[in-house]
Amino acid sequence: MASFNLLSLLLLSIISLAIAAPVVSTDYDVIVIGGGPAGLSATSGLSRVKRKTLMLDSGVYRNDPTRHMHDVIGNDGTVPSVFRELAREQISRYNETTTMKNATVTSVFSVNNGSYYRAIVSDGEEYTARRIVLGTGMKDILPITPGVAEGWGKGIYWCPWCDGYEHRGQSFGILGSLSDVMGSVIEVWTLNQDIVAFVNGTNTPEQQGALAAKYPHWEAQLKAYNVTLNNETILSIDRLQDGSTNNDTAQDLEFDLFRVNLADGSVIERGAFITNFPDDQYSTLPRALNLTMDGTKIKVGTNMKTSDNGIYAIGDANSDGATNVPHAMFSGKRAAVYIHVELSRLESLSAVGKRGLSKKGLEEEANELIGDHLEAMLKRAQELSTT
Ligand SMILES: Cc1cc2nc3c(=O)[nH]c(=O)nc-3n(C[C@H](O)[C@H](O)[C@H](O)COP(=O)(O)OP(=O)(O)OC[C@H]3O[C@@H](n4cnc5c(N)ncnc54)[C@H](O)[C@@H]3O)c2cc1C
Ligand SMILES: *[C@@H]1O[C@H](CO)[C@@H](O)[C@H](O)[C@H]1NC(C)=O
Ligand SMILES: *[C@@H]1O[C@H](CO)[C@@H](O)[C@H](O)[C@H]1NC(C)=O
Ligand SMILES: *[C@@H]1O[C@H](CO)[C@@H](O)[C@H](O)[C@H]1NC(C)=O
Ligand SMILES: *[C@@H]1O[C@H](CO)[C@@H](O)[C@H](O)[C@H]1NC(C)=O
Ligand SMILES: *[C@@H]1O[C@H](CO)[C@@H](O)[C@H](O)[C@H]1NC(C)=O
Ligand SMILES: *[C@@H]1O[C@H](CO)[C@@H](O)[C@H](O)[C@H]1NC(C)=O
Ligand SMILES: *[C@@H]1O[C@H](CO)[C@@H](O)[C@H](O)[C@H]1NC(C)=O
Ligand SMILES: *[C@@H]1O[C@H](CO)[C@@H](O)[C@H](O)[C@H]1NC(C)=O
Repeated sequence: MASFNLLSLLLLSIISLAIAAPVVSTDYDVIVIGGGPAGLSATSGLSRVKRKTLMLDSGVYRNDPTRHMHDVIGNDGTVPSVFRELAREQISRYNETTTMKNATVTSVFSVNNGSYYRAIVSDGEEYTARRIVLGTGMKDILPITPGVAEGWGKGIYWCPWCDGYEHRGQSFGILGSLSDVMGSVIEVWTLNQDIVAFVNGTNTPEQQGALAAKYPHWEAQLKAYNVTLNNETILSIDRLQDGSTNNDTAQDLEFDLFRVNLADGSVIERGAFITNFPDDQYSTLPRALNLTMDGTKIKVGTNMKTSDNGIYAIGDANSDGATNVPHAMFSGKRAAVYIHVELSRLESLSAVGKRGLSKKGLEEEANELIGDHLEAMLKRAQELSTT
């Protein structure tokens, strides 16, 4: 009996392979979840080839706390909300096929093993699409130490490209575990030379071992870079001056000033800090969908495809190693091109009554459109930095 069932299943699948695969009818071709630079870029790319696209955005952006966005060519120093607003305004030209909604997606279901997907939003509305793009971002897990969250993006930052230049030459602090100190020093030494690493009680044999594994000569290197290690517990960080208003715009300098209050009663003033705090997926969707993860990131291949054939992950949330606005835009664009080519191939095959789609052929087609040399460049860039 069991073998008969297996046989009929096999026959059925052979028959279904031979007949034309109908193109599933859904509300949209693609639902893009997230309206940060990654989601906006994917939405733009899909819109310009008239793919029916729905972008759903809950509006909690990772770089919202920052004063200005940097190192995004043509928009160096733009306020992030202004940047996103302009993108939305430009994308709204494509309103014939593209819709943007402010809503939180609470769940996504794969129907019939990915023939299509169902997204449910918090107001109960449901939308279907053939492909899902997750541009849902990451969240920073900040320590509860008073002053850290308050200063986040405003003198306390995580990336030298973000706010480092505006604080160049100023007295500087590193926050986070000892094992991450050398990585930060190497990133900032061209900008700041008077550095105190506030390791907050993590100068332990385990952390020293972890640091030595990466930098065998770390102690000598810290000395050479004039880095002071401070192991006291940080009680709080007070802001003494706000660089939002104390600035020199001609010189691109922001004069923040902070006082670090330590458990032994000592205080140390610093102009700015770089941090090494953990982060995680902002959204619960990737894990709810059982997507394969790479640490805290959603594992993707070169075309931003996840372990689920119809789901793509772009921007900070994906595993390709970079977390910045240019990368978010690149990965959104890449997913848009690939999805369009993939859906078009399926449609063209369906039109002539054929099924079958070689993954290799598809990738070659997408690479021709976007250029596969970008991958090699991205890899090299990742080797140099993980910011
Ligand atoms: C303080 C700070 C300063 C930074 N400064 C810079 C800088 O100067 N230059 C630079 O290049 N990079 C900077 N970055 C990095 C930059 O913020 C990120 O690389 C970028 O935001 C990634 O874009 P994204 O679209 O992947 O994610 P995000 O911008 O975080 O957008 C994710 C979007 O998804 C939405 N979302 C999540 N879940 C759901 C859901 N279930 N339903 C609907 N919507 C959902 C969120 O609401 C959000 O709108 C900075 C980061 C921080 C923390
Ligand atoms: C949707 O969100 C964007 C950006 O967060 C905002 O500018 C816009 O006004 C919102 N639209 C509506 C209809 O609330
Ligand atoms: C779509 O965009 C056009 C051009 O910008 C505008 O005139 C029209 O009102 C928009 N339609 C909708 C439904 O928003
Ligand atoms: C589901 O789809 C994937 C990818 O298209 C395929 O590899 C897998 O065999 C399918 N599983 C079933 C049970 O049909
Ligand atoms: C410092 O360490 C304490 C105790 O482990 C912890 O609660 C706090 O979050 C840490 N603060 C910072 C800024 O690392
Ligand atoms: C080295 O660090 C100390 C202590 O933070 C600081 O006082 C001094 O100015 C620094 N030296 C240089 C050359 O930056
Ligand atoms: C750093 O502080 C921690 C926690 O108080 C302590 O266990 C450790 O011994 C200290 N390290 C050094 C080198 O003093
Ligand atoms: C500099 O400070 C002024 C107020 O003193 C403020 O209006 C301006 O936005 C600030 N510029 C920058 C680039 O931060
Ligand atoms: C994910 O896996 C869990 C546990 O194996 C299962 O209960 C759940 O249905 C799966 N979800 C999806 C969307 O496949």
